[in-house]
Amino acid sequence: MNSDHATPEVVVFGSLNMDLVLRVPRVPDAGETLEARSFMSNPGGKGANQAVACARQGARVAMVGRVGDDAFGLALKASLEADGVDARHVATDAASTGVALIMVDDGAQNRIALSPGANASVGTEDIGRLRSALAAACILSLQLEVPMPAVCEAAAIAHAAGCTVVLNPAPAQPLPDALWPLVGILVLNETEAAMLSGIAVRDTASAARAADALRQRGPAQVILTMGGDGVVVANADGCRHFAALAVQAVDTTAAGDTFIGALCAALANKESIDAGIALGIQAAALSVTKAGAQVSMPHRQDLAALPAVPRPSPVALG
Ligand code: RIB
Repeated sequence: MNSDHATPEVVVFGSLNMDLVLRVPRVPDAGETLEARSFMSNPGGKGANQAVACARQGARVAMVGRVGDDAFGLALKASLEADGVDARHVATDAASTGVALIMVDDGAQNRIALSPGANASVGTEDIGRLRSALAAACILSLQLEVPMPAVCEAAAIAHAAGCTVVLNPAPAQPLPDALWPLVGILVLNETEAAMLSGIAVRDTASAARAADALRQRGPAQVILTMGGDGVVVANADGCRHFAALAVQAVDTTAAGDTFIGALCAALANKESIDAGIALGIQAAALSVTKAGAQVSMPHRQDLAALPAVPRPSPVALG
């Protein structure tokens, strides 16, 4: 845990949700009532998840966002602070705190329905707080669970300040043209990549084609995460594939957030993009072996027992 709030290296501008999670044998049909195996609530939201994942890998992190004036909001802010994330830039809003209803089935797959609540109010006031949080930072992490105009403005401010903008375009939606050149590192999954590139991602070769096409839009690095099928990166070195680590997945919720948080921590520590991807793969692999979002995320010392991630192999653009 790092409690140096004065100088965050990584700033996350995004969502905070309370996740209400039912473990179900399968997803119920329309009109069907199905008994869940278990229930748990735990802190989530793509923004807060990435902040916590990053802090647990040793980076100094600040979070900018909004929660409601309610018990969930208090719990989410307290939980960030317990992980050493500077939550002083998380404002309290008249709307209720964001809530995610999540069902995780026996195949470890999740389905999420979201009430954005206070996340939907993120805007001009929050941009003001972002400016002060960014003062000494080198990385801004963005996702799309807060309004797009605020995401674009945040990216522009960070880009102008010389920060690397890391964008996770999730939930998937089209990106404004003006946003593309501001993004240094685009991190996305198969669904998001297919939506943004128009290329169906079915395997490593199609993932490389999609990543390369997205790189033409502006980001220097496009990182396409494919769960158990590994990660494809497209950058000035070409397209390369990193294999995943073999684990027994019980819940894939927030695996992508864990990857991104770890990647940002490595980059804040001046490690290479390859080292960041390898750390992200290790952290995400451990996270899917446990249930929940933030409760499943490993600390740096937890990764010591894991095997090293094999060196990447080149992927030809056929
Ligand atoms: O990426 C996982 C997250 O998506 C969950 O924690 C949930 O809150 C939704 O935002």
